[in-house]
Order: sequence, then C-alpha cells, then structure tokens
Amino acid sequence: MSMTIYRDGKFVSEEEAAVSPFDRGFLYGDGLFETLRCYDGKMFRLDRHIERLRSGLERLGIPLSVNEAEFAGVLRELMKHNNVANGVARIIVTRGVGEFGLLGKQAQQPVVLAACWSQPPPAPERYEKGIQCIVSHERLSPKHDLKSLNYMGQILARREADAAGADDAILLNHHGHVAEGTTSNIFLVLGRELITPSLEAEILVGITRAAVIELAHAEKLPVVERIVHQNDLFHADEVFLTSSVAEVVPVTRIGSHWVHLGRPGPMTREMMRAFQALVRREAK
Ligand SMILES: Cc1ncc(COP(=O)(O)O)c(C=O)c1O
Repeated sequence: MSMTIYRDGKFVSEEEAAVSPFDRGFLYGDGLFETLRCYDGKMFRLDRHIERLRSGLERLGIPLSVNEAEFAGVLRELMKHNNVANGVARIIVTRGVGEFGLLGKQAQQPVVLAACWSQPPPAPERYEKGIQCIVSHERLSPKHDLKSLNYMGQILARREADAAGADDAILLNHHGHVAEGTTSNIFLVLGRELITPSLEAEILVGITRAAVIELAHAEKLPVVERIVHQNDLFHADEVFLTSSVAEVVPVTRIGSHWVHLGRPGPMTREMMRAFQALVRREAK
C-alpha cells in the first residue's frame, strides 16, 4: 500500500510526492533533512530538530515556510495516516528546481517533504553485546553542522565497515581527529569522565549528544569536549555512539581492539538507561 507523504502543504500519495529530476536536492544534495524516532506516537525534542533544520537552511539561503508547531501537526497527521506508533519520521527540504550549475539562484520554490513509517527499534543484541566498528579510511568532509542530503562519505565508510564484517565505522576529519560515527556522535569514557569531540571537529551537533551531555551534568559526571585523537579510542574504558534513531549504542570492538573486554561498560549502560528515562519523561 502506498504511503501518505506530506509535500508542500498537502498530504499526497508516494507517487504524487515524487520530485522533479531537476530538483537540486536530487542533482546536488542541495538541501537538508532531519530524522526522528516515533515513540508510541510521540516524538523527542522535535523543537531542537526544527531549530537545527531552520538554522542550517538559513545558512544555505533556503527559506522555510513551515514552523515547529506546523511540523508537529504534520508529523502527527502522517503517523495517523500511515498507522505508525513506533517508527521513524523524516523531514526533507531541498532548494527545489533551478538552472544547472551550483548557484541555483533561479530556484525560488523549496520543496518540503515529510514521511513517517513503522520501524522496529534496533535489535536488542546491539545494546546487550555492543557493536563492532572500524576506523574508516574515508575522511569526513567539513560540513559545519549541516545535516546535508549528501552522505557520500558516510555511505562509503558504512560500505567499508560492512566489507570488513563490522557494524559501523568511525570517521576521522581532515586533520585525522576522531569526528563521529556514520550517522551518530561518539563518546569515550575514561574513568568517570565522558569525552566527546568538540565542535571544532566539524561534527553534526547531535540532539542525542546534547541530551547525553545534559544527563551527565545532572549526574555530576565531568564531560570534556575536546580534540579526540585516534589513539584515545584505544585507551578508552568505554566507547558509545549516540543518535536519534539508535539512542545510546555501546561500541565493544574497534578493528581488532576489544573495548571493555568486549562488553558494554557501566557508564554506557547508565547513559542508555538515563536517556530512555528522559525520552519517557519528555516525548510528546
Ligand atoms: C552524521 C551524523 N552525526 C550525528 C548524528 C546524530 O544526531 P542526532 O542525535 O541529532 O540524531 C547523525 C544522525 O543522523 C548523523 O547523521
């Protein structure tokens, strides 16, 4: 059965939502997106997602005509239409159709799409045993906190991980510093301290990352945002990834190196638990 999609103010079928072959999102990745998880028909911190989208679009010079309250209504309506309680919601905004060439000044009509589908949460095994990562040979291209429609570096890194029999890849930036996972931010635990790459590593400023920092502060755990070297990964007591879809995911192996003897550590478990409790309290 065809899914109901939101496109430019209307709820339409998947077929009607199709974009032009000349859409700049399709041609150049000229647009941004947001992904959220739906929890029993509720969402966690939609306002932060919309704020990140809005400020990114402002930098790209793409006007956004839909506000947060409207997006909340749209996503709720999509959950209803598509019978989604637990799943994923995605918002996509592109610059629309313009002339060939990079500037795209003639593109006057941005495309705003939203979709929502049922999807089970990641397998419990990933949380109980942790996942295996490689450090990718791909370098993260500087995107200065834009959740851009171009994920080529991340796709190549994920393919490299898959070919190596791993679950995911950790990406370094052009300075060779640890940046993030392919669709997540990264944290290291050293003693009682949480360490995460600072914004100068040109990471995406994750909504989940911010929530974990907030939770750590509430529990009086020191959080250090700094440059993280590849070597730090191999000296960490624990490593975990954070994202809206997967929440807090333990990394128990990096290449041939076992992290915390190949088992999720206590701080990671604490953050998994605290994050889930936060979602239960706040999701609306
Ligand atoms: C490259 C990248 N970094 C980090 C994240 C985590 O961001 P958030 O916690 O806002 O989902 C994502 C999420 O998709 C991502 O794609």
